[in-house]
Amino acid sequence: MIPPGKTIGVLGGGQLGRMFAQAAHTLGYRVHVFEPQAGSPAAAVADLATSASYEDTAALEKFAGGCDVVTYEFENIPSGPLAAVARLAPLHPGAQVLHVCQNRQREKAWLKANGIPHIAYAEALDGDIAPAVAAVGLPCVIKTADFGYDGKGQMKLETEADVAKAAATFRGRRCVVERWCRFRCELSAIVARSSAGETRAFPIAENIHTHHILDFSLVPARIPESAATAAQRWAADIAARLGVVGLLAVEFFLTADGELLVNELAPRPHNSGHWSIDGCETSQFEQHVRAVCGLPLGGVSVREPTVMVNILGDAWQWQDGRATAVPAWEVILAASRAKLHLYGKTEPRPGRKMGHFTVRDASIEAAFQRAQALQARLVR
Ligand SMILES: Nc1ncnc2c1ncn2[C@@H]1O[C@H](COP(=O)(O)OP(=O)(O)OP(=O)(O)O)[C@@H](O)[C@H]1O
Ligand SMILES: [Mg+2]
Repeated sequence: MIPPGKTIGVLGGGQLGRMFAQAAHTLGYRVHVFEPQAGSPAAAVADLATSASYEDTAALEKFAGGCDVVTYEFENIPSGPLAAVARLAPLHPGAQVLHVCQNRQREKAWLKANGIPHIAYAEALDGDIAPAVAAVGLPCVIKTADFGYDGKGQMKLETEADVAKAAATFRGRRCVVERWCRFRCELSAIVARSSAGETRAFPIAENIHTHHILDFSLVPARIPESAATAAQRWAADIAARLGVVGLLAVEFFLTADGELLVNELAPRPHNSGHWSIDGCETSQFEQHVRAVCGLPLGGVSVREPTVMVNILGDAWQWQDGRATAVPAWEVILAASRAKLHLYGKTEPRPGRKMGHFTVRDASIEAAFQRAQALQARLVR
């Protein structure tokens, strides 16, 4: 066990690192953030911050040498430097977990090899996508194997003309082509596994995306109990087989005939778990702290039905490519059973995650209705 008072290192300085640091502080830990860009959301709340490249092995070794345990909030960390970190401090989740999850080809191959239900896919190399498209059929979606997030590096293909366009766009890049899933809804299961061997799954979130970016998470999800239990079991099973210590988020499609298909994995706190700060007995960030430090895991009961709404840079008022007015924060601040979380990012950009808010109510339907109404009033 790594007791309170020790230092936790975090690779990555975004909002996930920021909320992780805030939770670690609540339990009396010190936090050291390693992030290439100066002035990051996490560095602003950390005890120590190092600003250096992920390729700078000397800086990483200095960082790791001063930490009692290291975790990450960002998946695209090169594996060589990560090995240097792991030699100097326990790294949770381990380097082999990140190696699988940071690349869609490896992740899907792992799901296939382990008999985990997943969306049908085929690999495509170097722009030669026609055979992969033929294998899965149209419509489908092409995704780069590396460095994708918030729908970046993806293109939906509906016609042969799209296939030709995608072949040009994705030339020279390793990709996967996935069958398009006409899902009933999207779900995520976040599970914690502690270094002491305990496992606990959060209640399932129902996720609604707009333009491939998460818009709303609803907890409890509006699905049959059996589907929720099955999703939690799959997530716990995947975490155990991968040997995860820390959090693992599993994104699922729930099909019209009730089948659960894994979309992707993330071995870290997840956007769809932000509801837990206000709506759950233990937040996902505190649970991650507990798991990587070997503390007993916290309870995961839902305090009240909760909806989380992402606040993107689009909520600012824009004129000629410039943000001219901030969103109407007072709308959220004045609402009952609502909470505003801002990440301290100074520069809004369309599509950039700037914060989120949550709305709690007696039923998930009531919370969702109020959340949508507040979201509509946020833009001036
Ligand atoms: N095969 C598919 N069928 C239907 N919808 C899809 C498919 N793949 C992706 N999408 C839609 O696009 C969203 C983003 O896709 P995905 O999770 O693969 O991307 P990402 O860039 O890793 O996003 P994030 O990091 O935000 O999870 C999905 O949540 C889903 O709404
Ligand atoms: Mg996703």
